[in-house]
Amino acid sequence: MTKPMRCLLTAGPTREHLDPVRFLSNGSSGRMGYALAEAAAARGWQVDLVSGPVSLTASAAVTVHRVVSAQEMLEACEPLFAQCDLFIAVAAVADFRPKVMESRKAKKSAAQHVLELVPTVDILKTLAARKTPAQRVVGFAAETHDVEAYARRKLAEKSLDWIVANDVSRPGIGMDATDNAVLVLGRGGERAAFGPAPKRAVAEFILDQIARGLG
Ligand code: CTP
Repeated sequence: MTKPMRCLLTAGPTREHLDPVRFLSNGSSGRMGYALAEAAAARGWQVDLVSGPVSLTASAAVTVHRVVSAQEMLEACEPLFAQCDLFIAVAAVADFRPKVMESRKAKKSAAQHVLELVPTVDILKTLAARKTPAQRVVGFAAETHDVEAYARRKLAEKSLDWIVANDVSRPGIGMDATDNAVLVLGRGGERAAFGPAPKRAVAEFILDQIARGLG
């Protein structure tokens, strides 16, 4: 019997805390990542899903690892990445975090407050740099304009095999929505568009494109 394909995904937002009760984040619902995880599990793949804080639950076929921050997401992914055949980074990782996280709730003061931010780690880029020839890595590109051009740049800059571009400028589609419309671009010049459609249908389409390349 051949071994099932091992697929690692990230999903949802991350939270970058200023203090125990306040954080920087974004409106990602996690739906696209969870839909991909379920679609992959339904294909008989072994699926690990590293998820930021979302209100979704996954079926028993998906192993969920819950994290909060970008750094925790990277640390949860690292050992799983070393063992996976396919990594799909769907998470809307916060790009910046507060330079200092206060251990106690900061008190309100009337004075103007300047928040110093530093970049978070790029999980996808970090892991893609460790890719073996047998592994495949897929990224997402959430864009409001020049969608294809920016997606092509991310495909090259992050050393990806595939990138899934989605236009997040249209209300009701993409981020924090039930439907999505995507443009899937491959390192080998492949180009395929799909949607708007429910995220599970979009997930099946994305996996079909990737599975062709897996041979
Ligand atoms: N990503 C990641 N870690 C980050 C930022 C992004 O793993 N710190 C991944 C996302 O999961 C996605 C891809 O990188 O698969 C692109 O994310 P996106 O937010 O579109 O792009 P950024 O690299 O953050 O660039 P920009 O915000 O300038 O568009």
